[in-house]
Amino acid sequence: MKQETDLSGIKTTAPANPNKALWEKGDFTRIAASMRESGEALVRGLGIKPGLKVLDLGCGDGTTALPAAMLGAEVLGVDIASNLVAAGNRRAREAGLANCRFQEGDATHLLGLADKSFDLVVSIFGAMFAPKPQEVAKAMVRVTRPGGRIVMGNWIPGDPTLVAQILRISSAYTPPPEGFVSPMTWGVESQVIERFTGAGIAREQIHFSRETFTFNFSGAPAAFVDEFRNYYGPTMNAFDAAEKSGRANDLQNELEMLFTGQNKSQRKDATSIPATYLQVRVQV
Ligand SMILES: C[S@@+](CC[C@H](N)C(=O)[O-])C[C@H]1O[C@@H](n2cnc3c(N)ncnc32)[C@H](O)[C@@H]1O
Repeated sequence: MKQETDLSGIKTTAPANPNKALWEKGDFTRIAASMRESGEALVRGLGIKPGLKVLDLGCGDGTTALPAAMLGAEVLGVDIASNLVAAGNRRAREAGLANCRFQEGDATHLLGLADKSFDLVVSIFGAMFAPKPQEVAKAMVRVTRPGGRIVMGNWIPGDPTLVAQILRISSAYTPPPEGFVSPMTWGVESQVIERFTGAGIAREQIHFSRETFTFNFSGAPAAFVDEFRNYYGPTMNAFDAAEKSGRANDLQNELEMLFTGQNKSQRKDATSIPATYLQVRVQV
């Protein structure tokens, strides 16, 4: 429980938000640095024109928000993690992008964002991590203007490629709390359809494709595992649990085998790992 002080100076106890705590725990910018090329390529395929109003939800430090702003869009990045919002604003400032700003917010309700206010809502491996997926779908539809679009990138459960496997391996060391809805359910087409039709979208307006996102890291696969171990919230939690049960070495070995097996780089000092994801495109 987090101690907070209300306006009268009385100490109150705010319930901790585990979703926020998970993503503020590490430093996702360290992982995001390996995702820039694919983020830029993805954004180039979104048909962005100058002046388009874009919401990047679960934006991290702006892997897709900054390239969208570079194409002239008016971009708002929203993320639950205050450290990533600060990093995004810093990167936008350094790039001289006055049309790209970041603020804290929760995909579950998007409080403070007006109805029908964006032409395009993008959420790449972002909103999938928010709890209450049905509410998330409703919130995304609510803030998109009629005729606008929603584009999501979601990891696919059971997929043999990198991130689905990291999350599968990690979850074996950290059993989810009761009632937990796995983020990976956003990678199942029938579930996505149920969520968006439940938010008022016709089935024919929901389209899917399988796409590839490549992680490029300037170091060997084992060093890339260390980045996840030290900076990626879900993997950090898995290592915390594995250490308690004396299985940290098992987890390290499993991840090293995975990363090494999937590495496509021919160089010893570089890692390049393609990962498959489900791209969801919704016409509002
Ligand atoms: C895997 S990262 C992806 C970040 C970014 N989209 C990218 O591609 O680099 C997941 C992001 O979702 C954010 N996130 C998780 N739960 C959220 C929520 N309920 N509302 C808003 N953002 C959330 C995390 O803070 C994190 O930045």
